[in-house]
Amino acid sequence: MTQATARAHTNIALIKYWGKQDEQLKLPQNNSLSLTLDHFYTDTTVIFDSSIATDDFQLDGQKLAPQNAIKIQQLIDHVRQLSGQTAHAQVISTNHVPTSAGLASSASGFAALAAAASKAAGLDLTQRDLSRLARRGSGSASRSIFGGFAEWQKGDSDETSYAVPIQETVDWEIAMLTVVVTAKEKKISSSVGMKRSVLTSPYYSAWVANATQDLTQIKQAIASQNFEQVGQISERNAMRMHALTLSSDPSFTYFNADSLKVMQAVNQLRDAGIPCYYTMDAGPNVKIICRPTDAPKITAVLSADFAPDQLILAQPGPGISYLD
Ligand code: DP6
Repeated sequence: MTQATARAHTNIALIKYWGKQDEQLKLPQNNSLSLTLDHFYTDTTVIFDSSIATDDFQLDGQKLAPQNAIKIQQLIDHVRQLSGQTAHAQVISTNHVPTSAGLASSASGFAALAAAASKAAGLDLTQRDLSRLARRGSGSASRSIFGGFAEWQKGDSDETSYAVPIQETVDWEIAMLTVVVTAKEKKISSSVGMKRSVLTSPYYSAWVANATQDLTQIKQAIASQNFEQVGQISERNAMRMHALTLSSDPSFTYFNADSLKVMQAVNQLRDAGIPCYYTMDAGPNVKIICRPTDAPKITAVLSADFAPDQLILAQPGPGISYLD
């Protein structure tokens, strides 16, 4: 019996991944860039045990039905293939996300799984190869191997598509305030939504070209620690991604009325001289990029509409770690 436990933190993309060139290998159409956060993480233990008769997956204390564990199963099968390990696996995973935050945990989940499974199987993977392995579970997980700012380089094959660290230690003022407008499951998953955008939005090729420019500019802004430029570029890139959902056929959106309310509040705060910017992913929750010192003022304004447990402040977080 061999086992390992790994911890991975979630990340939020500032330059979004939205669309694949290869569905099976999860190779993206454009490079993306994210900030790993300290507040939200997943701990996963993988045990290869020749005395058990089937693979067994547990999430937050509940056994997962096989139809809900297909991607986990595929990743474990791939690790067995790479390592020559033949025993069945027990996977025990716990998400440390504030209660009912409704935040995507696939990035931290698959990064922790890739790290724990490969180590338990006796593989000693480089961070690059770990990133490639995590990518197979969920594209955004490739970036959660690293702390701080990370870029997922799209590549054009399994070997060349992985994340790299851009600035692992973020020693300047940048934070992210998550506004949990609802904890409900999203109706259109990111995989389904991005596929529809690639196939039907007439603006898709413009997105790829713009995302490439946004990426070049945000890397310069990060290198010069220019908070306002990082915020501006992130906000505009997020809205361009969401324009792809609106321009798909049939059209769809992840915004709800509360998302728009938060975006308006951010605009008003900015008009009042507080630099803050919004970004959104494949769901209605809004993440506000701000300086930690401004967070109390922003929280005070949003408290008119949202309860304290709907407003969660996170700072830049670390990359993968092993707990045993
Ligand atoms: C909007 O990584 O969840 O959060 O690769 O199909 O599992 P799959 O998609 P996923 O997509 C994330 C989309 C996003 C933007 C981002 O994180 O870059």
